[in-house]
Amino acid sequence: MNVRNARISDAKVICSLINYYAEHDKMLFRALAEIYENLQTFLVAEQDGRTIGCCALEVIWSDLAEIKSLAIQAENRGKGVGTALVSAALEQARALGVPRVFALTLEPGFFERVGFAVVRKEDLPMKVWSDCAKCPKQTECDETAVIRTLGAGDAPVAEPVLQRSLWG
Ligand SMILES: CC(C)(COP(=O)(O)OP(=O)(O)OC[C@H]1O[C@@H](n2cnc3c(N)ncnc32)[C@H](O)[C@@H]1OP(=O)(O)O)[C@@H](O)C(=O)NCCC(=O)NCCS
Repeated sequence: MNVRNARISDAKVICSLINYYAEHDKMLFRALAEIYENLQTFLVAEQDGRTIGCCALEVIWSDLAEIKSLAIQAENRGKGVGTALVSAALEQARALGVPRVFALTLEPGFFERVGFAVVRKEDLPMKVWSDCAKCPKQTECDETAVIRTLGAGDAPVAEPVLQRSLWG
């Protein structure tokens, strides 16, 4: 399995991976146009020439990026593909010089397995909520915020620091 930057030829597969889970109420729907517009933010996992997973890394602000649209083809779940995509996204964040990466997810257990810590959504900056305007759930958001701090030994954010405030 190989993780690489997405290409134009991946866009339709990325769109169907995401929307498969959106139909199961696990992710937000994405239009194909949105995938093309944000294609440079996407990484894909490829096996035997087939795209079997995707995720996006979007820079939010000077010190923060978001992992979005993480989706692994159903029959390839549980084989380390999600871990490989998150690792590659974290590597990209490091290369860009962004010290913190967060996600809003219905699968916090997975993110904890890959070194993220659960934080209160209120501790994330307002800028993070731009997607909420498009979300049908809006005020009934059932996602959990998770974050990982890069560098300094690459340890997950320590609990006492989170309780104070990340951006206070
Ligand atoms: C959640 C998802 C991305 C995980 O990817 P994956 O390739 O199946 O996960 P991996 O095989 O890399 O799993 C890594 C570890 O996390 C664990 N794990 C996977 N999903 C988990 C979950 N939902 N809760 C807790 N642990 C989980 C695995 O058991 C594994 O543990 P191990 O190291 O002890 O073996 C994938 O299942 C998926 O696409 N789910 C549907 C879409 C979705 O919910 N995306 C997240 C939106 S942000």
